[in-house]
Amino acid sequence: MNSQSPEIHHSMQGASGQVSWESPANIALIKYWGKHPVQLPMNPSLSFVLKKSVVRICIDYAIQAGQASGFTGFLINGRENKSFSERIALFLRDVDPHFSFLKHATLKISSESTFPPATGIASSAAAFSALALCLCSVEAKLNNTAPEGSVFFRKASNIARLGSGSACRSVYPGMVVWGQTKSVSGSDDHYAIPLKPETVAPVFHSLQDSILIVNSSPKKVSSSKGHAMMHHHPYREARKEQAFSNLDRMLRAMQTGDLDTFGEVTENEALSLHSMMMSSSPGYVLMHPNTFRIIELIREFRRQTAIPAYFTLDAGPNIHMIYPQKEVEKVRPFIKEEVLPLCEDGKWIDDGMGNGPRHEA
Ligand code: PMV
Repeated sequence: MNSQSPEIHHSMQGASGQVSWESPANIALIKYWGKHPVQLPMNPSLSFVLKKSVVRICIDYAIQAGQASGFTGFLINGRENKSFSERIALFLRDVDPHFSFLKHATLKISSESTFPPATGIASSAAAFSALALCLCSVEAKLNNTAPEGSVFFRKASNIARLGSGSACRSVYPGMVVWGQTKSVSGSDDHYAIPLKPETVAPVFHSLQDSILIVNSSPKKVSSSKGHAMMHHHPYREARKEQAFSNLDRMLRAMQTGDLDTFGEVTENEALSLHSMMMSSSPGYVLMHPNTFRIIELIREFRRQTAIPAYFTLDAGPNIHMIYPQKEVEKVRPFIKEEVLPLCEDGKWIDDGMGNGPRHEA
């Protein structure tokens, strides 16, 4: 077929170029756990993006109407990655209805990750948000518009969600909410939105996240399976209620600078997430004995020093120790002397709140 497709504007025909975005991982304080089609959350969640744990994606594109579209391989740090390539192919199929150019595009996608190797920290939120931002950037270039503004980021967030739910929260700096709730105006199940900085007390603008690597082995049960087990979970309705109410308490704590409530809710969410996994059918445990030991150490350290340092957990055994940046010098000796002996090969990532994704080309 040589005739130009009516679906793309003639100015796009023959267009080619390159786009690139760097996007971070995020850590949820209020957890997204359980979803319904298509990748819509059972409850609202809240997170912030990290500084060091980022993925950079670069797409070379060429548009040729009528030509079979496709992508010519996905490179991670210069190497082919077959299983992620398959996931990207499915993702591109799913997002096709959102981009008129995609049917006619040939894409070469390469990616670089700054995630330290063998830490067991998931990079999919960073990867899918970078990929979504790149696709929206190609669209912006073809339409001669700038890759910026709330409409652009809202679409990127919506697209990122289709790759990995939590990825939709990685497109903004600061505190970000995903999922419809009366408590946050403009919140939506389809995309995340940033909380207005003036509704977040200064102490929460620069949190530290020391990621303590207890075990870096791949997860025994994937998050997709975990989400699916929430469908018939006996505590499903109670968990939903808990998440809405924890989000409200968290929003109030953030507004007033109430670190005690912030910490209490953060830890409650982490333990509740893992309780849901343990009480699923079949139940499973992703925590490791040293996860419990470190939780106890952090609580004891807080009791003794009154330093507001708290823990949260992703779907895995590693601990995210969250505390205000001004406490870094006091917390570091505790981590080095007491916690690192319990970490796998003494591994940790001293990360913290980042500035959100960066447009590179
Ligand atoms: O985005 P997914 O499908 O990998 O799910 C992530 C779920 C948690 O990381 C456990 C919680 C969250 O809100 O990020």
